[in-house]
Amino acid sequence: MTKIDEEALAEAYNRALELEKSGDLDAAAKAYAQVLEIDPEDHGGAAVRLASMGRGETPPRAPDAYVETLFDQHAESFEDILVEQLGYTVPMMVRQHLQSLDLGPFKRMLDLGCGTGLTGGTLRDMAEDITGLDISENMVQIAHEKDLYETLYVGEVEDFLEDNDDEPFDLITATDVLPYLGALEPIFFGAAENMVKGGIFVFSSETLPASDGRPYIVGPHQRFVHTESYILDRLKETGFELIEMSEINVRMQDGEPSPGHLVVARLK
Ligand SMILES: C[S@@+](CC[C@H](N)C(=O)[O-])C[C@H]1O[C@@H](n2cnc3c(N)ncnc32)[C@H](O)[C@@H]1O
Repeated sequence: MTKIDEEALAEAYNRALELEKSGDLDAAAKAYAQVLEIDPEDHGGAAVRLASMGRGETPPRAPDAYVETLFDQHAESFEDILVEQLGYTVPMMVRQHLQSLDLGPFKRMLDLGCGTGLTGGTLRDMAEDITGLDISENMVQIAHEKDLYETLYVGEVEDFLEDNDDEPFDLITATDVLPYLGALEPIFFGAAENMVKGGIFVFSSETLPASDGRPYIVGPHQRFVHTESYILDRLKETGFELIEMSEINVRMQDGEPSPGHLVVARLK
């Protein structure tokens, strides 16, 4: 890792944020470009901020250093903010949908982007063996303290799915993780490669209305939003058949619902 000039970085980043807030997007874009020069790994997420302003190319996923830093910093307050304040219940929705579809129990579950273990905890009695994976060490540490997963890894989802040679899984979950991934081929293809035939893949997404014309963008809150048709096409191409796609509210954001989908698919 190259040594970063932290002082110059903080100055450039704060200037960029101020300019963005003031509505001077051209100047903000220049300042974010400077941020990226100082910190090419992009711990502050300048690339997703640029994309959300419509000024940079949409990256294929949020920068690893950014996601890691963001969730490491917020790990302690994560559940309080997301669940208590923003009404996040996607893990419970996953349980309810699996049960109403009469799917499970499962032998081996893989929880991609497991965070503090909300989904592992909610599905604990539905799976014999649960593996969790997350890029943020502090999030994984909290999941570890709850003693809910047989195995926990700190790592990046796409890299893990590409390299993993553990026994295949019959349930893969990814709750509120797609908002940090743009292109979905790597996670869908990777999930298929790590699953038994007939295995179930459940995930949530935040929704981009089809009228936008693009398959996915970085939305105003620096999270990726995907069109329904992009998700359906990519699932089909990677060997899944759709079981159910439901409209959900992922969580509240500035007092408004965040429209999303809960998707249940089966590997053919
Ligand atoms: C909003 S949290 C959701 C956590 C958990 N799935 C839940 O439902 O509570 C998103 C999690 O995904 C992880 N994450 C995002 N992108 C990732 C990636 N590319 N590789 C591994 N973990 C990732 C983050 O570190 C974070 O813990």
